[in-house]
Amino acid sequence: MADLKGLILSGGRGTRLRPITYTSAKQLVPVANRPVLFYGIEAMVEAGITEIGIILNPETGGEIRKVAGDGSQFGEGVRITYIDQSSPAGLAHAVLTAEEFLGDSSFVMYLGDNLLQGGIQELVAEFTQNAPDAMILLQPVDDPKSYGVAELHEGRVTRLVEKPAEPQSDLALVGVYLFTKRILEAAKAIEPSARGELEITDAIQWQVDQGDRVEPHVVHGWWKDTGKLADMLEANRLILDVVERRVEGHVDADSQIDGRVVIEEGARIERSVVRGPVVIGKDARITDSYVGPYSAIATGAVVERSEVEHSILLERAQLIGLEGRIESSLLGRNVVVRRGERTPRAYRFMVGDDAEIEIL
Ligand code: G1P
Repeated sequence: MADLKGLILSGGRGTRLRPITYTSAKQLVPVANRPVLFYGIEAMVEAGITEIGIILNPETGGEIRKVAGDGSQFGEGVRITYIDQSSPAGLAHAVLTAEEFLGDSSFVMYLGDNLLQGGIQELVAEFTQNAPDAMILLQPVDDPKSYGVAELHEGRVTRLVEKPAEPQSDLALVGVYLFTKRILEAAKAIEPSARGELEITDAIQWQVDQGDRVEPHVVHGWWKDTGKLADMLEANRLILDVVERRVEGHVDADSQIDGRVVIEEGARIERSVVRGPVVIGKDARITDSYVGPYSAIATGAVVERSEVEHSILLERAQLIGLEGRIESSLLGRNVVVRRGERTPRAYRFMVGDDAEIEIL
């Protein structure tokens, strides 16, 4: 198990999370106040993997390098190697980019925006024990057209199709794969798909066609691809559901804190109600407000005379004096939403490209 490597793909553009992803990599958008990418790294470390390669898009890679660092923050002996993918030419292309890093090792490939309950420890053990040529994870979904889809016959993988127009099964490929070095050969053998990418799905299909043993593993816990806002909020909810109560910030006597709530050092809660599961980051300030279940309020954010629930506020976002309750929202860094004092009473916006605003 020890010689398995880890490969995290963080090259994607995150177009479905714009405008947030204009200024930040989608893998750094926080879930329960931690970059989604960290959950993948931690899952690997937990499974005993210490050599981790991260594939980057050179445009957003700098920020990822800075935040994830050399890997030492994730545990002793953990080493992260960064690999630039010059063009977003597909997941199989990304694997080829990492050829030198991978050497002859088998590896776990993890799409940097995926979240998998329970980590990968058992999967790694199963892979090591059964020693198949590849192992894929599957889960039934309602909208298989949005994923790679697998067809099974008597427990064996017969066909894999990337985002099929007419899916023949509801089993989506989860963005976590266990490969031997054989996948490099497969990635070299295939042709680009209709969307011009070297698809990992096609590479695995090539292995099936060659008679390789490709083992399917249906995942029963939850799995989230956090590429869209609704999925992001859902991932936030699932992670917050398992946080443990920890109050290190200041809560005044006029506030009420219910249930599983994390309040980081330096945060201040004044004359407010916080009903968990909720995380409130360092130096955030909640005043005369209500913060309801499944909210993640990042470092330095402010909620004043407002109500917020089932939402994610990034660093230093501010909600001030709002009449209605904010819900199912994602507010970017330094975003300010406040009630205006001026007359005539009117909506006044200064909003970036691709933002979405829904008014009461
Ligand atoms: C990618 C893969 C797809 C897989 C999905 C899982 O799609 O191409 O086969 O089902 O990840 O998250 P993407 O989300 O990059 O469109």
